Amino acid sequence: MYLIYCDTLDSVQLLAKRIYNKITQDIIIITADIQVSGIGRNNRKWLSGKGGLYFTIVLKKIDIPHPAQLYIPLIISEYITNKFNFNCGLKWPNDIFVKKNKIGGILIDCKINGTEKIWFIGIGINYNNKFDNCLDDENYPQSIADITDKEIIFSPIIESRLITEKIINCIQYYNSLSIISEYSKKCICLNKKIVAIDSQGKTISGIADRIGDYGELILNNGQKLYSVTKLWMTIL
Ligand code: BTN
Repeated sequence: MYLIYCDTLDSVQLLAKRIYNKITQDIIIITADIQVSGIGRNNRKWLSGKGGLYFTIVLKKIDIPHPAQLYIPLIISEYITNKFNFNCGLKWPNDIFVKKNKIGGILIDCKINGTEKIWFIGIGINYNNKFDNCLDDENYPQSIADITDKEIIFSPIIESRLITEKIINCIQYYNSLSIISEYSKKCICLNKKIVAIDSQGKTISGIADRIGDYGELILNNGQKLYSVTKLWMTIL
């Protein structure tokens, strides 16, 4: 394992992609106190001020069980639940929620190099950061400190390492069936009315019915079932 810590960076996800092939280790962690150009899913910004935990894990030659976009949030929600003693919900595909507030997000990229997959797993968790003037009224970000009403003392180096170890150690206990079944128990979208983008890029609304075999969200609009694979949806 090779770990890089910086106080300020553009984005740990970007640095990971710039340097992963210059480092021989199969597991690389890059963490920073502040990201000035943090990236969220769907080309959104990820607010990355002081107090949050921001890290990217690069995995070479280690395959994450399928569906990876559900496995990672599942493991992180377990980590947070064990550490802070409250339950996390998962908003499909990989947002971490506590009640109605988003406390963390995950950005997963995969590069194929011949027969080998290289995973870039970017994780942002709102430990102590503040969202006083935040206009994200879809996700209502909140920090764990605001929920527990006390500052979280943490080291990004230790925390990112512990989470990485949990992700790797749990691989042996999960397969697609167990990931989908455990994820479904925590998924806050199921049985709710949602608006999403279907596989052809069309906006559709209906009830989130279940998680499909490939990790997709199955939406029922009363007439037909749709497979939501695009990474945007909102709960109404
Ligand atoms: C999302 O919910 O939109 C995903 C957010 C992912 C944020 C993390 S923080 C570490 C890594 N670096 C980035 O720039 N983004 C990811």
